[in-house]
Amino acid sequence: MTRQKQITAATLLRAKQHNEKTVWLTAYDAVSAQIAETAGCDVLLVGDSLGMVCLGYDSTIPVTLDQMIHHTAAVVRGRSHAWVVCDLPFGTYQQSKEQAFASSVRVLQETGCDAVKIEGGEHMAETIRFLSDRGIAVVAHIGLTPQSVKKFGSYGKRGKSEGERLQLLKDAESVCNAGAVSLVLENIPTDLAGEITGTLPVPTVGIGAGSDCNAQVLVWNDLLGISASNPPFAPAYANLRQIMSDAVSRWADNVKSGRFPE
Ligand code: KIV
Repeated sequence: MTRQKQITAATLLRAKQHNEKTVWLTAYDAVSAQIAETAGCDVLLVGDSLGMVCLGYDSTIPVTLDQMIHHTAAVVRGRSHAWVVCDLPFGTYQQSKEQAFASSVRVLQETGCDAVKIEGGEHMAETIRFLSDRGIAVVAHIGLTPQSVKKFGSYGKRGKSEGERLQLLKDAESVCNAGAVSLVLENIPTDLAGEITGTLPVPTVGIGAGSDCNAQVLVWNDLLGISASNPPFAPAYANLRQIMSDAVSRWADNVKSGRFPE
């Protein structure tokens, strides 16, 4: 079997330049990493959605750097060629650029992943430049930024008013000029995502941002129908929750009735 070439930030940039879409999916362990990569995903994002879809928290805010490192290291062990990105969780990069650097160094050294992702636009540009100047590949994330849910009060669409739209355009330009290698656009209007994608030289990754983005990302549990409910922009391509529940329940019945083991 020929080993596929390692995907890098340059691969993703070239794909944008050739008008080819790339596929991102969240992964939280070695098994999901293997399945996603074998099925054709280019990028495995260890999102801090980990906290909500795997660890039982009601937001991403309680997720710690140690938890992200633990799961990202597992994803890296499971991949062979996909680009692996780790979210820096809430409180581990916003205090200062030096704090962001120290957190990124831990993530890169302790997991072997390829890039870090941070939420925020214009106000994070100085931090992104600091990291980028020191050789760190940074993915920026604007629009709906779940770590700020306590400030905004909801997971609703961003960029609907003219003011928000102008700010998001400024955010996109600032993080790109600061050296971000890619930009996640979450839950913003399709035409705004299209405008940002057409203007920026770096690839955009949409989630709830329409079809014009250079890549699409979904959360593993939403895509596979494991989540109890999905956001409106995240269709389930299977109903694994039902399939898993049926299998466990058939086995439990067999144990109780003495049919297992045979
Ligand atoms: O945490 C996450 O999974 C994310 C994606 C939804 C983009 O940031």
